[in-house]
Amino acid sequence: MATELMQAIQYDSYGGGPAGLKHVEIPVPTANKNEVLLKVEAASLNPFDWKIQEGVARPLLPRKFPYIPGTDIAGEIVKVGPQVKDFKVGDKVVAFHPHDRGGGLAEFAVASEDLTVSRPPEVSAAEAAALTLAGLTAHQPLTEIAGVKLDGTGEQKNILVTAASGGVGHLAVQLAKLGNTFVTATCGARNIDFVSSLGADEVLDYKTPEGAALKSPSGRKYDAVIHCATGIPWSTFEPQLSDHGKVIDLTPGLSSFATFALKKLTFSKKQLVPFFATPKKENLSYLVQLVKDGRLKTVIDSRFPLSQAEDAWAKSIDGHATGKIIVEP
Ligand SMILES: NC(=O)c1ccc[n+]([C@@H]2O[C@H](COP(=O)([O-])OP(=O)(O)OC[C@H]3O[C@@H](n4cnc5c(N)ncnc54)[C@H](OP(=O)(O)O)[C@@H]3O)[C@@H](O)[C@H]2O)c1
Repeated sequence: MATELMQAIQYDSYGGGPAGLKHVEIPVPTANKNEVLLKVEAASLNPFDWKIQEGVARPLLPRKFPYIPGTDIAGEIVKVGPQVKDFKVGDKVVAFHPHDRGGGLAEFAVASEDLTVSRPPEVSAAEAAALTLAGLTAHQPLTEIAGVKLDGTGEQKNILVTAASGGVGHLAVQLAKLGNTFVTATCGARNIDFVSSLGADEVLDYKTPEGAALKSPSGRKYDAVIHCATGIPWSTFEPQLSDHGKVIDLTPGLSSFATFALKKLTFSKKQLVPFFATPKKENLSYLVQLVKDGRLKTVIDSRFPLSQAEDAWAKSIDGHATGKIIVEP
C-alpha cells in the first residue's frame, strides 16, 4: 500500500527564525500503543516553540533534527493505537504533545492518550488549541504555588499578572478572578480596555513610571505575581510584595535561579520561584470545561494557514500578540 503523505513544517538546525522553517511532504505518523492520530484542525504557537529553534534548550531540545514544532493541537481522531481505551475514531479532541516530540505544525499529528481530552462542540478547535500550554501554564502556578482556590473560597489574595495581554497572561487574569482575588495586571496602553474586560481590577501600562515600578494604584502589596513578562529585576518586585509574597517566574533565566537560591539560603519570606509547567490531563479537562461553560475565554490574536506558518512564527517572535496565535492546516 502506498505511504500516506502530509504537509508539515520542519526545521533541521538551530537558528534561522521564520526563514529556517521548511514546508515538507512527509509520511503521516503512526499512532503507537496508547497514542491517537489526529487530523489537525488548529495548532497554537508558544514563544518556547521558537526559543527551542534558537537553541535555548540545546542539546536537550529538539531531541533530533529534522523537527516539527508545535505542542498544542486540536483536531479529529482518525486512528487509535492498540492500547487506547478512552477514545475512538471521529472524536474531537485537544492535546498537548510534549516538546521533545513536537509535531503540531502538520496536517496530522500523534498525541498520547494521557494528554488528550475530549473537545465538546461548544469549544472550537482554535479556542481549544489556544488553551493548551498557555492555559496549563496560567492554571498551575495560580493554584499550586499561589494557593488560589478557583471555586472562590479561601482568603483573599492580591495577585499581579505581568504581560496580561499575552497568551498566558490573558488566561491567568481570568483564572485568578475565579478565585477570591484582587487582580492587578500590566500590559501596553493599547490593551488596557481589553485586560480590564478580562476582569482585572486595576491595570497598569508597563511603559509608564508607575507601571514600570509595578505599583498597585490602590496601594496593595502582592501575595503572588504570575510573571509572564521578562526583564524585570527582583529589586523592582521586592518592595511591591506582601510579607510572604512570591514571584512566580515563567521565563526564568540565570538571575532568577540566583535570586531563588539566595532567597532560600537567607530564609527570606519573600521568594522568587522559577516555574516550568507540568501539563496534566485533568487540568486540561478542567480548562476545556470552563471554556464550554463560558467562564473562561481564549482570545485569538491571529490565525494563519499552515502554508503561512512562517508568518505566524514571525508574529510570535515579535512578542506583541494579544492572546494566542493559531496555525490551521
Ligand atoms: N515556564 C513555562 O512552563 C512557560 C509556559 C508557557 C510560556 N512561558 C513563557 O511565558 C512568557 C509569556 O508567554 P506568552 O505566550 O504569554 O507570550 P506572548 O503571548 O508572546 O506575550 C505577548 C504579550 O506580552 C506583552 N508584554 C511584553 N512585555 C511586557 C511587559 N514588560 N509588561 C507588560 N506586558 C508585556 C505584549 O504587550 P505589547 O504588545 O503591548 O508589548 C504582548 O501582548 C514567555 O516568555 C514564554 O516563553 C513559560
